[in-house]
Amino acid sequence: MSQTSDANPQAANAAKEADLLAKAAQYSFRARMDKKTNEGPVFERASGSVVWDVNAKEYLDFNSGQMCSALGHNHPTITAAIKMACETMLHAHSSHYNVQEITLASRLGALMPDPLQKSLFGESGADANEMAMMIARKYTGGYEIASPHISFHGLSDATRAVTFSGWHAGHGHLPGGTFAIVAPYCYRCPLSQTFPGCEFACLKTSFALLDAQTTGRPAAVITEPLFSAGGVIEPPPGWLKALQQMCHQRGMLLIVDEEQTGLGKLGQMFGFESEGIVPDIVTVAKHFGGGVGVSAVTTTAAIEDKVVSEGYAATHSHANDPLICAAGIASLDVIEQEDIPQKARKIGKHIRERLEALQQRYEMIGDVRGRGQLIGVELVRDRHSKEPATDEGRAIGKYCFDNGLIFSLRRNGSVLRLVPPATTTEGQIDSAMDLLGKAIESVAPKRGAASAV
Ligand SMILES: Cc1ncc(COP(=O)(O)O)c(C=O)c1O
Repeated sequence: MSQTSDANPQAANAAKEADLLAKAAQYSFRARMDKKTNEGPVFERASGSVVWDVNAKEYLDFNSGQMCSALGHNHPTITAAIKMACETMLHAHSSHYNVQEITLASRLGALMPDPLQKSLFGESGADANEMAMMIARKYTGGYEIASPHISFHGLSDATRAVTFSGWHAGHGHLPGGTFAIVAPYCYRCPLSQTFPGCEFACLKTSFALLDAQTTGRPAAVITEPLFSAGGVIEPPPGWLKALQQMCHQRGMLLIVDEEQTGLGKLGQMFGFESEGIVPDIVTVAKHFGGGVGVSAVTTTAAIEDKVVSEGYAATHSHANDPLICAAGIASLDVIEQEDIPQKARKIGKHIRERLEALQQRYEMIGDVRGRGQLIGVELVRDRHSKEPATDEGRAIGKYCFDNGLIFSLRRNGSVLRLVPPATTTEGQIDSAMDLLGKAIESVAPKRGAASAV
């Protein structure tokens, strides 16, 4: 350290940040999801539920990085597995098996319900979903794929085409054979229905449209079991099961994208479990790597056998690599040994209690929803009109961020999405909720007796 930085560490950090941001302005591509400006913070370190920027400012990370550190940042079991891979084998010929890959496939196969058994590994959520869609196309001989209109499945070309919650602007036409279906967004039903009286009008309408548009070559529906990027929207009970039935009636497969929701985060191992169904294909990613990029597509032996015998090949240079698979094995160790579903339920219960107390106080909190470590708060200008409180949500997000609490804003700012890591303590939740309360107080009128709904 120079004398200046010893004497004034804050000034040294500020200079470091200014230097990094100047380089970023010149060299870093700004095509980010939620921010296009060239400002700080610049993150430098992380541990558990906390991250620090180069100014040594501390943040509680209720976004778990990009949701991939939901087991806790820099979990020692994950870092030990990465070190082990560094000392044995990082990368392997992807046409041959390697030890870590077989171990991970066996562990994941044992975790998935029968007959889901055969896994293939990629490096991102988008590539697992692309592989899943290719498998469905090859298996059915069809090519048409549909997804609910609030879905998010990735931002590669193929997955963007079935990502209907946004991010299409400026991208030209979508590949043929991709369709949006009406999502079960019950808080704002697009068909103005109410569950359960609606009898899944969304599905009936969607399949009437699909049946009208099909060229007779349907392949699959891909869906999240709880829509995360679309605004933490939970389908009503029975929806996923009815969707699967309607797919199968048409010879379509059901692909369930568990990349946000799977592996314990909702308080159960997989989101589809509570519906009592077994999808035809499941994808996992995000905290599957404990912070390292690994994803999986898992399907049945019958589907694998048919598509492989008909020439399906899927690989990337780093698919099935020992490094990423070692991280995947370590994340499954953490999920099982630390009982992540149980931790997620505890975290979710405490956050929801605190949010529901705020909801009693503030008219603006229209809906509190989600499960386990994935919680959403929908803000409205008033509960009768349900006009989305987008500016207010953005102001709340900024207030919290400036004061050291990170979470994401969805639906143009009107939904606050909280994804705290499993390491988050009750004390950290309380600090976060206290801050959120102050942020809401700064923009929202309290509920008057007259406005109670
Ligand atoms: C449900 C879901 N599927 C797929 C993806 C895409 O994953 P990746 O960004 O790793 O490609 C995401 C990312 O947020 C996601 O939430």
